[in-house]
Amino acid sequence: MITEQEIQQFSEMGAVTIDTPLTQQQLTAASDAFDRLLPGPGEKPRYRVSTTCTFYDPELLDIIQHPFFEEVAKRVLRADEVRFFQTAVVTTYPAPNTPFSFDQHVDVQYCLSDLDATPRRMVCSYFLWIDDVTAQRAPLMYRPGSHRLIARERENRPELKGSAAHVEGVSLARLPQLDYADPIPVVARAGQTTVLTTAMVHGASINVDSTPRKAMVITFTAADIEIGLPQNQAETKRAYDRELKKRLRPERAHIVPA
Ligand SMILES: [Fe+2]
Repeated sequence: MITEQEIQQFSEMGAVTIDTPLTQQQLTAASDAFDRLLPGPGEKPRYRVSTTCTFYDPELLDIIQHPFFEEVAKRVLRADEVRFFQTAVVTTYPAPNTPFSFDQHVDVQYCLSDLDATPRRMVCSYFLWIDDVTAQRAPLMYRPGSHRLIARERENRPELKGSAAHVEGVSLARLPQLDYADPIPVVARAGQTTVLTTAMVHGASINVDSTPRKAMVITFTAADIEIGLPQNQAETKRAYDRELKKRLRPERAHIVPA
């Protein structure tokens, strides 16, 4: 499922890529759902299209409620119980005649004492790769270990210590200038998932390949751990949770907060 060494890599580097038990049939069905849910490449002058907490396609709900993600999140977060937090589907189409480049930001910031607590007071994010992701095909770029450099800095600021973490995008330019490692790409095979924290400096990149790249994002927190969301996202999540609770299989509905 996930080894101690892989959990250590998640903790230190901020990301680790592991195999999942999903079948090619499940991935193909998910891929078709992406195409139904998201605008095609010609429909919008945007190469990266996504939607968050809006979909109930059975193929995608089967992935969200797959016990694998709950069990790995328990191990990674060192929690007896975990709860679903958010989900998104993202397709990045090839961008013709555009040089490779990438964004750099964090979505959330923690203190070291949050990251190293039991259970960890943080979000565990899965990027499930529906297609192979290569260095050319819009890999997620990230700076390994940068979440811990930021967390160490925050740990020493009394006004921040003990305050609940909240989701808020901050660009690299607005982050403290620390000795960050150089950015590297996440490459993976279809059906693998990268388990990561969006508290590390990371960002989407341009697809300079000829095939779209599809990723399903699923996030979990330890039960009873509060992570703040911007108001619009919090409202969307509450409505989605209510609906999801009704639509998941009865024996799996416990992953959704009450
Ligand atoms: Fe992000």
